[in-house]
Amino acid sequence: MKERIQSVVILGGGSAGWMTASYLSKAFGDQLQITLIEADTIPKIGVGEATIPNLQRVFFDFLGLREEDWMPHCNASFKAAIKFVNWRKAPQEGEPDNYFYHLFGQVPDCDNVPLSHYWARRMLEDGDHEEMAYACYDKAPLLDAKLSPRMQDGTRKMSYAWHFDANLVAAFLRKLAVGWGVRHVVDELDNVELKPDGSIQALTMRKGGRYEADLFVDCSGFRGLLINQALKEPFIDMSDYLFCDSAIASNIPHDDERFGVEPFTSSIAMRHGWTWKIPMLGRFGSGYVYSSKFASEDEATEDFIKLWNLDPNKAKLNKIRFRTGRNRRAWVKNCVSIGLSSCFLEPLESTGLYFIYAAIYQLVKHFPDKSFNPTLINRFNEEIEGMFDDSRDFIQSHYLITSRDDTEFWRANKHELKISDALKHKLETYKAGLVVCPPLTTNESSYYNNFEMEFRNFWTNSNYYCMFAGMNWLPDQALPKLAYRPEAVKKANAMFAQLKKQTAELGTSLPSTYDYLKMLHGVTI
Ligand code: TRP
Repeated sequence: MKERIQSVVILGGGSAGWMTASYLSKAFGDQLQITLIEADTIPKIGVGEATIPNLQRVFFDFLGLREEDWMPHCNASFKAAIKFVNWRKAPQEGEPDNYFYHLFGQVPDCDNVPLSHYWARRMLEDGDHEEMAYACYDKAPLLDAKLSPRMQDGTRKMSYAWHFDANLVAAFLRKLAVGWGVRHVVDELDNVELKPDGSIQALTMRKGGRYEADLFVDCSGFRGLLINQALKEPFIDMSDYLFCDSAIASNIPHDDERFGVEPFTSSIAMRHGWTWKIPMLGRFGSGYVYSSKFASEDEATEDFIKLWNLDPNKAKLNKIRFRTGRNRRAWVKNCVSIGLSSCFLEPLESTGLYFIYAAIYQLVKHFPDKSFNPTLINRFNEEIEGMFDDSRDFIQSHYLITSRDDTEFWRANKHELKISDALKHKLETYKAGLVVCPPLTTNESSYYNNFEMEFRNFWTNSNYYCMFAGMNWLPDQALPKLAYRPEAVKKANAMFAQLKKQTAELGTSLPSTYDYLKMLHGVTI
């Protein structure tokens, strides 16, 4: 019998650290002694986060928490889409903003072909102009009207995720994990003792503590104190795929009473990048993600201040520099990196927290014993690599296909980026009218209940279609097969009509997002 891992030390107490501590504690209970060490002097990066729907199923359900249990503690609000504003083109002086939605949930199938392809056929051959997100889903107009994805009685009517304050989530999970027996140490790392084979023996701390463990989880953020600094694992810089490397973030008060609360994240294209807008009750988090190669910090600050009409003397701005890329290996010897110490992509598609719990899920799946079988470690690393590189490609595709060309930044994005073969292949597939990523199963509910399958097919045909069609970048031709199937086309038309009916019904029964959130937070806070 191989010896079991008995102790785990997690370094870092941000979202990654506390998500790891609580999940491992739930997964292995008292079979594992878990210690989390965090330095209270190090500011947490969390600035108001947007998530994706499987957070509940993959993470909170696993911990045994319903939405009602955690949402009120984290100032959480709903997110049913990302609204991409001015990504199609830069509006001229006096012109209104242009926008499209990247919605959650899958476009339904008709005769084993996604409805998006019948939509493309209508556009290309019938001269129709209805936007893809409005034709193929039922909820776009409901989001325009700022309606809640849940009925007053809590019934879910849309696929949605959440916005919240990541620091509150970390604090909430800390209480939970400590209650479950996780040991919490507040101290700063001084030194990492290595064994002769190069793995980690112990961490020694400023106040004199020394912490040995069988397994170490590096959640120390961008600095990668264990994985990069102590174990010297190289970070593969991918700034040749994505130019943005900086952000200016702030919290901005908002008059909800007057304007309502938007049930979506916005991504507003700017001269040298884009700005996120994450609405929560009473305020929204916002940040300008830009490329320092094309804009100075002062220029970016000026554009950001102008966008929201901030008072330059009063606004509290958080200036962040980030690294785009991933470690060559996320797991090396007895050290697993999770969170910013492992990999980072600009938050354009809300992948930050997803990368954390996906890595934790994979860690539990591949959890080793003291022999640290290299096959387990290699499999884990392959999963992380695939997850990251696919997401990088999807995010990069936004920059490749936009027709914005108003600044050097946008022009360089079209002509100077390194593009993976996998993405080139997807772009060609789309252009030829084919389904971009074939789904593993056509049954949406089983598809969405199986995280294993979802993980490997994370960016679906629907995601690519929302993005490409949303940017007005259409296939060169409709899927030829459809021309031979008039019955299927007829059925698709009936489905389009049915979606409209659903929209109309929901429009009269859903409460506003603001009213729903007031109720949710009002009762429990
Ligand atoms: N498969 C993911 C989902 O639908 C894809 C995704 C990630 C996504 N970020 C998103 C979809 C933002 C819409 C908006 O959950």
